[in-house]
Amino acid sequence: MQLLTAKLACLVALVAQLDLTNAVKHADFKTCSQSGFCKRGREFADRVAAAGPAWTPEYELAKDTISLNDGVLTATVFKTVDEKDGGKVELPLKMSFLVNSVARVQLDEAKRQKGEIELRHDSKARKERYNEAEKFALVGGTNYDVHANILNSDEDSTKIRYGWDGQQVVIDYKPFKISFIRDGEVQAVFNQRNFLTMEHWRPKRELKEGEEATVDESTWWDESFGGNTDSKPRGPESIGLDITFPGYEHVYGIPEHASGLSLKETRGGEGNYEEPYRLYNADVFEYITDSPMTLYGSIPFMQAAKNGSTVGVFWLNSAETWVDVTKSKKNPASLSNEKQSTHTHWMSETGILDVFFLPGPNAGYVYEQYSDLTGTTTLPPQFSLGYHQCRWNYVSQDDIKDVDRNFDKFDMPYDVIWLDIEYTEDKKYFTWDPSNFNDPLSMQKQLDMRDRKLVVIIDPHIKNDPNYSINKEMNSAGYAVKDKHGEKSFEGWCWPGSSNWVDGLNPNAVTWWKSLFDLKRFPSCSKNVHIWNDMNEPSVFNGPEITMPKDNLHYGNWEHRDVHNLAGMAFHNATYGGMIERDGPGNERRPFVLTRSFFAGSQRTAAMWTGDNQASWEHLAQAFPMILSQGIAGMPFAGADVGGFFGNPVPELFTRWYQSGAFYPFFRGHAHIDAKRREPYLVDEPYRSIVRDALRLRYQLLPVWYTAFQRASKDGMPVIRPHFVMFPNDPEGFGIDDQFFVGDSGLLVKPVVKEGQTETEVYLPDDEPYYDYQDYKVYKGKGWHKVHAPLEKIPLLVRGSHMVPRKDRHRRSAGLMKFDPYTLVFAINNEGKSGGLLYHDDGETFSYSTGSYIRKSYSFDGRNIISRDFDVPDERIDPAFVDSMKNVRVEKIILVGVPDDWKDKKTVTVTDKEGEWKVDLEFKKGEKGYANVATVRDPKAKVAGDWIVEL
Ligand SMILES: *[C@@H]1O[C@H](CO)[C@@H](O)[C@H](O)[C@H]1NC(C)=O
Ligand SMILES: *[C@@H]1O[C@H](CO)[C@@H](O)[C@H](O)[C@H]1NC(C)=O
Ligand SMILES: *[C@@H]1O[C@H](CO)[C@@H](O)[C@H](O)[C@H]1NC(C)=O
Repeated sequence: MQLLTAKLACLVALVAQLDLTNAVKHADFKTCSQSGFCKRGREFADRVAAAGPAWTPEYELAKDTISLNDGVLTATVFKTVDEKDGGKVELPLKMSFLVNSVARVQLDEAKRQKGEIELRHDSKARKERYNEAEKFALVGGTNYDVHANILNSDEDSTKIRYGWDGQQVVIDYKPFKISFIRDGEVQAVFNQRNFLTMEHWRPKRELKEGEEATVDESTWWDESFGGNTDSKPRGPESIGLDITFPGYEHVYGIPEHASGLSLKETRGGEGNYEEPYRLYNADVFEYITDSPMTLYGSIPFMQAAKNGSTVGVFWLNSAETWVDVTKSKKNPASLSNEKQSTHTHWMSETGILDVFFLPGPNAGYVYEQYSDLTGTTTLPPQFSLGYHQCRWNYVSQDDIKDVDRNFDKFDMPYDVIWLDIEYTEDKKYFTWDPSNFNDPLSMQKQLDMRDRKLVVIIDPHIKNDPNYSINKEMNSAGYAVKDKHGEKSFEGWCWPGSSNWVDGLNPNAVTWWKSLFDLKRFPSCSKNVHIWNDMNEPSVFNGPEITMPKDNLHYGNWEHRDVHNLAGMAFHNATYGGMIERDGPGNERRPFVLTRSFFAGSQRTAAMWTGDNQASWEHLAQAFPMILSQGIAGMPFAGADVGGFFGNPVPELFTRWYQSGAFYPFFRGHAHIDAKRREPYLVDEPYRSIVRDALRLRYQLLPVWYTAFQRASKDGMPVIRPHFVMFPNDPEGFGIDDQFFVGDSGLLVKPVVKEGQTETEVYLPDDEPYYDYQDYKVYKGKGWHKVHAPLEKIPLLVRGSHMVPRKDRHRRSAGLMKFDPYTLVFAINNEGKSGGLLYHDDGETFSYSTGSYIRKSYSFDGRNIISRDFDVPDERIDPAFVDSMKNVRVEKIILVGVPDDWKDKKTVTVTDKEGEWKVDLEFKKGEKGYANVATVRDPKAKVAGDWIVEL
């Protein structure tokens, strides 16, 4: 009995302890109810919803203020407030109809716009609502559709027609509401539920003796959290809006969260979250999976998908933002198959309301529309698609050289080795530790022998040391972020101890920052060094929520609260600029910059990774939904730390993680300083060989990755693509986020992310044959299929219809594969056809922008394989580049799924402009359940040439 009691007590203590550790991580970060405006926003929404039809709408558009000229509608919306506050608040509305059928809604507050407000605490902050996020996020897409016209206008509403498909917008005056119509159906409604909020300016009124507060103002004038007080000189100023997607069952996007691709409901109920998705870039230590908690970056871009249609919403706001998601049927009691609708509620702390509606009609169009606005991913240098080896920390230049030699010794390809913070002298960036890195050039030279690169970390916190010239320069020129008084550089703690932060919003600071990368300034740095920007949320160890106080002041006297989510992007973008300028005009090479913090537009200059994950199966499984989410939010160059940052993976987990990592667009192994050494050659057999195979598979498929990235850099189509993107008429696949397609290659992969699995189930979205990549086993029929997946196997299928370009020679780095021959694998579909694209350029400069590339289409029509240029209007291929490729051959053609009667084919005829010749064909009959395969060895065809193989 006593023993039992003791045991119980022990258990209770243990449980309490577990709670505590969980609480510690969470306690550093606000929940919605701890964030004043989110609490107010949710409470307001609840009040409105509870009142139902009895709710008196607060917002009304004044009909006689409407005017539409050259694609821009302006009007005034009035908010009804207390008589003592003037009765009415004027909110100028601007609605723009844009050339690519996108519509933009901007709502501001007249009083703040004119600066007719008073700030408290003698603050120097700007008085306006922040309206410059577009300066950082947008690069185009904002030309007006001058043909937008009013279709009709009556006492209740105005209907406008715009866009290439005759999209329509209906603006209701009271309650103020905007409906977006495409193909005769309402696709989205702004303010359908009357959650619109624009907290107007008002002076702080002290309560008179004995006066009772009528409203709870406790979060209006200042806010404390974790021992920090935010002085809030502008008072309450949040904005909110509900956006409904009628008939849309799934919404996606708004990364970064460690959650599923299809967003969950956030207002409780079984399997749902209790908290809204939060967007507030932060250094979240040991983050947990399956959570709407904020992480390091944010892209406020959401998509909604229903059968046959995808639309998007882009909420251009860089302040702290929360998004609630709920779903409902029109009639909750209905048991029928009635479609659900998705309701979202967006809340931001400050700024103007600035929202884009992207009408689709499918995911491809949505990505094009979003890319028109925010740009596409930079085309990465080829090496950066290879494998990256990182740890915190390689301790010396000899350590680096040693690891480099070991990769060769164990025959493992890799391209980049990384240095974390310890390479510097006392965490002063642009310096080298004088004892362990006293000859950094020797290390860079050794790497260069195999065309390998070094990445070094450079963070935005600058050691606050008067003897550190970079800090001196920055502070004396006023290039740092200022504290709330606006006189002195803000001082906080980070890796170097006391630090100041470079202000990426200041154009002069950016010019200066860029100059630091000049090889004449950055000592012992050569051209094969690239950059990692970490901690740029920014992470401030002693700051509120481990970041900067919101009342800090940036260039232009904008408060940090206004620009928080884009500050990290402004910084990594400046780094990219410095790297471009480093090589000098005319010699620019594509820089590689990795960032932890990001915002809409970050894709133009950086890759991202999912930060400090853990060596656990949960984190391995969590990585793919996160990376897919990045991809559909316009930032496809994404990866997760392979092996898990914290902790020590057991060999099985380690191996499975490399098999997954081989399918991350950004593929890097990384480990915490306390983790055991785990370079992939250190693991015992059989794991080592399996990991080597995964690395080699990545290199074999580099042409697939590069071709996919090239497309992403043109039209924003993600590099790895979830089912809802590829098969928009198959809603069964809309919730799947653990298997996906790689580019247009037809490769369908479902890496194993569970312990002890030897079999998995793969969903096929259609009735084409899918061939196992390794052994050509055939899977056929829409639905779920069991696929054998012992440790050494990655479930990887090729969909019939597609051609997979490969490079089969094993080399030590991507650079050394430059002129290697190609193998083309044609997976034949139900109609007996197949085909695909290959993109190739020099992999390192920008000469592709002047036509130095090849883009070939190789198609098989059942009889012939035809190689020709894949023409794009307005693009001209430089013949000199094609000529430089003249010795690069197709060394093998493999046709998978050929009919039985090919057994008698012995030779094929190849024809190009120089002649005609015969080559042998080898036919291999497939066992039962396996495909027949025909192989043409060395057809002597040039990869860049036009030719025909007659079969
Ligand atoms: C990024 O840098 C380029 C120049 O290098 C500049 O034109 C652009 O405005 C910058 N964008 C951001 C988001 O800072
Ligand atoms: C700065 O350098 C001077 C001269 O080397 C030295 O005396 C002083 O202690 C240094 N100051 C700091 C803060 O390290
Ligand atoms: C989705 O749409 C397609 C094409 O209109 C139709 O054939 C299919 O039946 C629909 N699927 C569902 C589940 O409604």
